[in-house]
Amino acid sequence: MTDTSSFAGRHVFVAGGSSGINLGIAQAFARAGAHVTVMSRSPDKVQQAAEGLRALGAQALGISADVRDSAAVDAALRQSHALFGDIDVLVSGAAGNFIAPAKDLSPNGFRTVIDIDLNGSFHVLRLAYPLLRKPGASVINISAPQGVNPTMYQVHACAAKAGIDMMTRVLAMEWGEDGVRVNAIAPGPIADTEGMRRLAPSPEALANAVASVPLQRMGTLEDIAHMALFLSSPQAGYVTGAVIPVDGGSSLRGGRDMRASYTPRGAA
Ligand code: NAP
Ligand code: COA
Repeated sequence: MTDTSSFAGRHVFVAGGSSGINLGIAQAFARAGAHVTVMSRSPDKVQQAAEGLRALGAQALGISADVRDSAAVDAALRQSHALFGDIDVLVSGAAGNFIAPAKDLSPNGFRTVIDIDLNGSFHVLRLAYPLLRKPGASVINISAPQGVNPTMYQVHACAAKAGIDMMTRVLAMEWGEDGVRVNAIAPGPIADTEGMRRLAPSPEALANAVASVPLQRMGTLEDIAHMALFLSSPQAGYVTGAVIPVDGGSSLRGGRDMRASYTPRGAA
């Protein structure tokens, strides 16, 4: 069991932390006594998320910034650093996704997902680098099964998450000598999340998603948060460059076919 006492007073910065899986991670660190900053586009969402973190007893900051805007990301990281000091845990999880066949996906549609997920993650990681605690920082990218499993109608997300997986490994090598560990979590289907609402938009699609998981259940926000706590704890001090599936074994089944979940935009 992870010793959460090691997070008291630590600085945790969560990019894309205002909802879903990433907010679940932010809340877990808040409960463990960390000072937590969440950053995402919507000013309302970040303020609401920060209030929720304070209600858990944490010092918390909500900052509105788009990961595609490197200057805004830089300013957000510096604001958080000025308040809470060197960053002990950096989570990069901002993402956008939708189901679309490659032949109907516009160049801007493809570029938008690459810009948010992959280029946005690079901005977050690269600009946080000077502000990370060295040695000791834990960097966690939020990937997805699409990073390794070819998934029909997900060419944009597959390309983006595969890039994130490789960036995880490269930065683990580059930053290891500073005592900075860089890992990724690849969640499986997680209940009550925007990602699942988009990828499994009907009861049938949801049932199929559950059936495809060897453990025969959806994951929870806690399942992912526990892995983030572990990866950032001293118990994981020799773990770096790992892309860890937390998916009930679903990635063992390989690539997926999203065709049945697809409704062309504008269709009733
Ligand atoms: P979510 O609630 O929509 O989380 C996405 C977060 O990113 C939100 O806080 C969103 O807030 C923020 N965001 C989106 N675009 C952004 C941008 N351009 N700049 C800054 N922040 C941005 O969805 P989720 O399902 O929990 O997904 C969270 C992460 O888990 C993603 O990386 C996703 O790929 C991954 N994942 C999810 C599942 C799943 O089952 N849900 C499975 C595998 C992987 P704003 O709208 O305010 O910007
Ligand atoms: N199918 C195909 N293309 C789509 C699409 C869909 N369902 N949704 C958006 N696009 C295309 C748009 O048509 C546009 O391309 P175009 O200019 O050629 O028409 C491009 O993507 C950008 O769309 P836009 O709405 O301007 O982007 P945005 O920056 O406002 O929003 C998204 C980004 C599209 C990813 C939006 O869905 C989002 O904000 N998602 C965040 C939440 C989320 O996805 N959570 C789950 C995480 S796994």
